[in-house]
Amino acid sequence: MTDDLTTEPDMYTTAGKLADLKNRYHEAVTASGEAAIEKQHKRGKKTARERIEQLLDHGSFVEIDEFVRHRTHAFGMEKSRPYGDAVVTGTGTIHGRQVAVYAQDFTIFGGSLGEVAGEKIIKVMDLALKTGVPIIGMLDSGGARIQEGVVALGKYGEIFRRNTAASGVIPQISIIMGPAAGGAVYSPALTDFVIMVDKTSQMFVTGPDVIKTVTGEDVGMEELGGALTHNKVSGVSHFLASDEDDALDYARALLSYLPDNNLAELPVYDSNVELEITDADRKLNTIVPDSPNQPYDVHTVIEHLVDDGEFLETQPLYAPNIVVGFARIEGRSIGIVANQPSAMAGTLNIEAGEKAARFVRFCDAFSIPILTLVDVPGYLPGTDQEWTGVIRRGAKLLYAYAEATVPLVTVILRKAYGGAYIVMGSKQLGADMNLAWPTAEIAVMGGQGAVNILYRGEIKRAEEAGEDVAAVRTKLANEYTYNVASPFLAAERGELDGVIEPAATRVAVTKALRALKTKRASLPPKKHGNIPL
Ligand code: HXC
Repeated sequence: MTDDLTTEPDMYTTAGKLADLKNRYHEAVTASGEAAIEKQHKRGKKTARERIEQLLDHGSFVEIDEFVRHRTHAFGMEKSRPYGDAVVTGTGTIHGRQVAVYAQDFTIFGGSLGEVAGEKIIKVMDLALKTGVPIIGMLDSGGARIQEGVVALGKYGEIFRRNTAASGVIPQISIIMGPAAGGAVYSPALTDFVIMVDKTSQMFVTGPDVIKTVTGEDVGMEELGGALTHNKVSGVSHFLASDEDDALDYARALLSYLPDNNLAELPVYDSNVELEITDADRKLNTIVPDSPNQPYDVHTVIEHLVDDGEFLETQPLYAPNIVVGFARIEGRSIGIVANQPSAMAGTLNIEAGEKAARFVRFCDAFSIPILTLVDVPGYLPGTDQEWTGVIRRGAKLLYAYAEATVPLVTVILRKAYGGAYIVMGSKQLGADMNLAWPTAEIAVMGGQGAVNILYRGEIKRAEEAGEDVAAVRTKLANEYTYNVASPFLAAERGELDGVIEPAATRVAVTKALRALKTKRASLPPKKHGNIPL
């Protein structure tokens, strides 16, 4: 094959045909042109090919459809028919494991999705589904290609259908690395995890101009649909990446916890777990403060229980009153759901319930065991919660736990009150191993609330007798907590499988997960359930 790309090859010879292939391939990989690439770089963005190259193990990318070209004549489009169109697709490996990828190419037609770009994405999605490997999409697009009208819209419909078919079968990750506008946002929304790059990515259904026209609201692109907004306010995004490198690192890290598909084994990493209580374990004996109103950070507990203290938290900025994410115990992935006493006292609200429910369902779909750490005073009271549907939307977490068939291990650290006790991986919802620390308080309601109802008369008498009412209240509440909310009452009835010293938790959870490794459970046959949405 000649390296000279300028001479016209003799197409009647084999050497000429090989040279022609080389020329065309060169044309395909350089279709963007220097100026467009420079513009992209100036915005702090990589090109589609650079992104793929960095995401995948070095040299593992195998491109498909690099010679695809659009067939549109509208608006003089036939004059520009770059090879590959506006998306680069193919397969490769991450940590040596096979994945499928696509990266929209903003340097070609603004990464817009017309007929053939849509077909390329559909083809690689089908390949991922057929071969049971995760798919990672890198989005950077002006949306449906305006010149192609309904054909472009139709392709989105086909992509959404595949996103849905793939849901619960292969992990789907979307990395937003530029604009994702209009209905196009619904493909990432249907995937399992969304990673957004700070300052250079935006997602919105209707943009600032349309909003201004229709509602009169003035809002900038970043405030409306930037990475911080979707990580903190809307909960659309699961990871806020500081730049593109960070976003690609998140995707690689995330995949290290996930199986290839719903029938595949979980990845197993080397680990050196000590099955005796260590000095580090003993630190947990002092984590729960004496005062029930004093918070602590549940991350500290998580870090003491998992391999190397490594925890990949998802949606850390959204509904921080519940903490969810992935870790490993004995080298195997687990999902963790934990109330966070240091945010809103760990109460459950709509956002926390939905965040945890989606996470539990993801773990269950991909056979990732779930460890639940409970310290919840109850549901957040208020008209705002009631009127925005805490009944309907709060039911999602109940549903998610109740239908989960993966190993479920629950440890009650402190408060477990009312409906929140039930929902947070209780025995009655189907958890397999339920443990509690001696600091656990399990009851219909907390001491102060119970005293107001049960001891109304006594408090009134104390008031009339001029006694220190606050002291009387505290004494009664403490007695109630000790006598009624004691974890030993639950243990006596077998609603807990054991009460353990906090220092013994890591070893107990490790052993529980070992015991549950062969768990088999199934649900009655049905087309699908009807989760309250
Ligand atoms: C065709 C498009 C395009 C589109 C951008 N381009 N979007 N071409 N169809 N949807 C082209 C531009 O014409 C331009 O071409 C090049 O891409 C780069 O775009 P710029 O506007 O120069 O870039 P920038 O200033 O960074 O602005 C990016 C942008 C803007 C914010 C995305 O281009 C934009 O608003 N585009 C339209 C977005 C939109 O409304 N899309 C439809 C959404 S509805 P040249 O040749 O000049 O370089 C939708 C429905 C999906 O997608 C429905 C699913 C059910």
